[in-house]
Amino acid sequence: MNQEPAEGSIVVCPDGPLLVRGDFEIVTPSGEPVPRQRRTVALCRCGASAIKPYCDGTHKLIKFRTEPAGPADTGP
Ligand code: FES
Repeated sequence: MNQEPAEGSIVVCPDGPLLVRGDFEIVTPSGEPVPRQRRTVALCRCGASAIKPYCDGTHKLIKFRTEPAGPADTGP
């Protein structure tokens, strides 16, 4: 079953970025807004993107791998 994520959702992409959908603002540590063009954005979690905090697809080139997301994932 493939369900459309709810508004305000974060999708953990296997071996890739976090897809963030909904009404939110991205800010720097000092509170400055980070510009974004789309309602849905892909946030880099591999650390290799040249356009952080956004994903630029580099995770594929570096063969970034993650553990499967699941109920045991409770946070940092
Ligand atoms: S997750 Fe895509 S470039 Fe880092």
